[in-house]
Amino acid sequence: MTSPKATAPDVTASDVTVGARARILCISGPNLQLLGTREPDVYGRDTLADIHARLEQRARALGVEVDARQSNHEGTIVDWIGDAPREGVAGILINPGAYTHTSIAILDAVRATGLPCVEVHLSNPDAREAFRRRSYVAKACVARVAGFGADSYDLGLDGLVRVLARRSGAS
Ligand code: DQA
Repeated sequence: MTSPKATAPDVTASDVTVGARARILCISGPNLQLLGTREPDVYGRDTLADIHARLEQRARALGVEVDARQSNHEGTIVDWIGDAPREGVAGILINPGAYTHTSIAILDAVRATGLPCVEVHLSNPDAREAFRRRSYVAKACVARVAGFGADSYDLGLDGLVRVLARRSGAS
């Protein structure tokens, strides 16, 4: 694992304020455990562990908590999303991988939570094959960050924290 790079944008905890250590659930979908060696020209060389380490650093700077997970299984992802409100999660960051383009189940699960959700992608699916242009999950998301490589996760977290701050009336 390479050491986390400090590439996140310049947003600090004093710029946005959310409830006491708001909890963010970060979910990565199928094949993202292979980052680092999977099509590096498309997805870069950072591993998912690198990305999670950086996200935790960023979360600390923003005064929130992040719980980052990965699964290749649609049902597991649906379960994690469904459990999120009960677990006190304030918002969801999700890279659904290929399920982006196929999963009505994940769309429904996110909608059912009523939680703000930001969709993230390392690549820019709109600039790739036509079948990647449709996102079912996007219909339940407040925003999408795509095409910034591993930085999409950090940028997505920044955006989600801003949404939470706005909703709590604190910023
Ligand atoms: C991806 C884009 C998807 O189209 C693809 O199936 C992935 C990764 C991305 O992060 O760029 O697995 O979600």
